[in-house]
Amino acid sequence: MRIAVYPGSFDPVTMGHIDIIRRAAAVADELHVCILKNPQKHYWFSQEERLALLRESTAPFQHVVIDAYAGLLTDYAHEIGASVIIKGLRNTTDFMYESQMDYFNKRLAPDIETVYLVSDNRYAVLSSSAIRELMTFGGNLEGLVPEPVLKAVRRRQERQKHNG
Ligand code: PNS
Repeated sequence: MRIAVYPGSFDPVTMGHIDIIRRAAAVADELHVCILKNPQKHYWFSQEERLALLRESTAPFQHVVIDAYAGLLTDYAHEIGASVIIKGLRNTTDFMYESQMDYFNKRLAPDIETVYLVSDNRYAVLSSSAIRELMTFGGNLEGLVPEPVLKAVRRRQERQKHNG
């Protein structure tokens, strides 16, 4: 049984993430999508919100488990018996960043292989940070994020309008 883990911040989950989850789930027996902490980031959505949005957005997929973990990715992978880490690559900037991560993850867990899925062209420039910027100024997010995220963003914008 091949267990894979797809880690990330998912703040919020985008259609680019969903595409990677769909493709990774098709080649793994079980895929754990795990929210981990990126110490460089301050999150807009709470961990509970990100978990709920990932759960709702991946409900149609088989063999996908949504999880969160406070420690190292490699510790999580060992705990669940994963042999593969999945990462999505959009461009050379991602490649440079992921090469560094790969080095440290390999040092920590030589038994775990990282597999890179090249992003679909439709999502090559899509990022959670661009989504957050569009959110800030009320831009249209249709087609860029899954339906549950669209609804959560609308709820948040309504709350903000009422609170002034
Ligand atoms: O979506 P992101 O922010 O690019 O995801 C980065 C993330 C959360 C996968 C990465 O920061 C991570 O793995 N954090 C957990 C700590 C860890 O194991 N770091 C790698 C070794 S330095």
